[in-house]
Amino acid sequence: MPLVTTTQMFKDAYEGGYAIGAFNVNNMEIIQGIAEAALEEKAPLIFQVSSGARQYAKHFYLVKLVEAALAETDLPIALHLDHGADFEVCKFCVDGGYSSVMIDGSSRPFKENIEVTKKVVEYAHAHGVVVEGELGQLAGVEDDVNIESHSYTDPDQVQEFVEKTGVDSLAIAIGTSHGAFKFKPGQKPQLRFDILEEVASRLPGFPIVLHGASSVIPEMVEKINKYGGSMPDAIGIPEDMLRQAAKGAVCKINIDSDLRLAMTATVREHFALHPSDFDPRQYLKPARAAIKDMVRRKIANVLGCGGKA
Ligand code: G3H
Ligand code: 13P
Ligand code: ZN
Repeated sequence: MPLVTTTQMFKDAYEGGYAIGAFNVNNMEIIQGIAEAALEEKAPLIFQVSSGARQYAKHFYLVKLVEAALAETDLPIALHLDHGADFEVCKFCVDGGYSSVMIDGSSRPFKENIEVTKKVVEYAHAHGVVVEGELGQLAGVEDDVNIESHSYTDPDQVQEFVEKTGVDSLAIAIGTSHGAFKFKPGQKPQLRFDILEEVASRLPGFPIVLHGASSVIPEMVEKINKYGGSMPDAIGIPEDMLRQAAKGAVCKINIDSDLRLAMTATVREHFALHPSDFDPRQYLKPARAAIKDMVRRKIANVLGCGGKA
């Protein structure tokens, strides 16, 4: 089956009270691990590519690897540009075979965000590609930008934004953040469900996206530290909170850090137990299996999209 857009996926997810996992991909092992998990769980899937990933792995390699996953699995799969910074990168990805792009105008003034998002929507829709916009800013580290504190989405702006831009989905800021350090040590993780509900009531049936939604599984951080790492206290979004969000208007949940942690913990463990190994396949094979296990965990504990493909 060719790549799909997220339109039908989100409609089914909204009605069915579940969310689609949007997993960041950077190399073959990550793509294979995610695809194997989705195939086993019969889950629809979004592979998403950040600008860092595009710099690291190059456009064509990632597109071709995703095409290989399509051929291997025959699942509904969307290929999505994560955090597109401007019209040009969105256009490049639309022209380059993506089925979905995000234009992240969240750091721009409201009017400018509308302008650039509308421009991307016009181009993307003319080419059969869907668009995610963003209102509000997440804290955390993303590409080269480190944002100290949240700027929560203002529900008063969402209707105007969606109407004027024509976007297909909207990322909002309700207290999730990028990276592995989402809350300070001792701080109780919490999300602004009041904002999510207010946004959902202003945009009935409209798909909402959560970025920064890794849960930072403690066993992964413990394993990294057990095998020579020195990660300080890392705290993520509790899985039950994300599951609750997925039952409502949230149709897309972005996960990157949990995959990174799983892969790194596994590679560290491998070298601690097999210090003389030097064949990359010997450590990338268990790393790929760890990605697969993490994605299966997400499908079961967070997304609820197993069996929905
Ligand atoms: O939202 C950001 C993603 O976690 C991608 O991170 O830019 O380091 O690839 P990256
Ligand atoms: P995490 O850092 O929580 O995995 O978020 C990833 C993300 O939002 C990618 O856009
Ligand atoms: Zn993000």
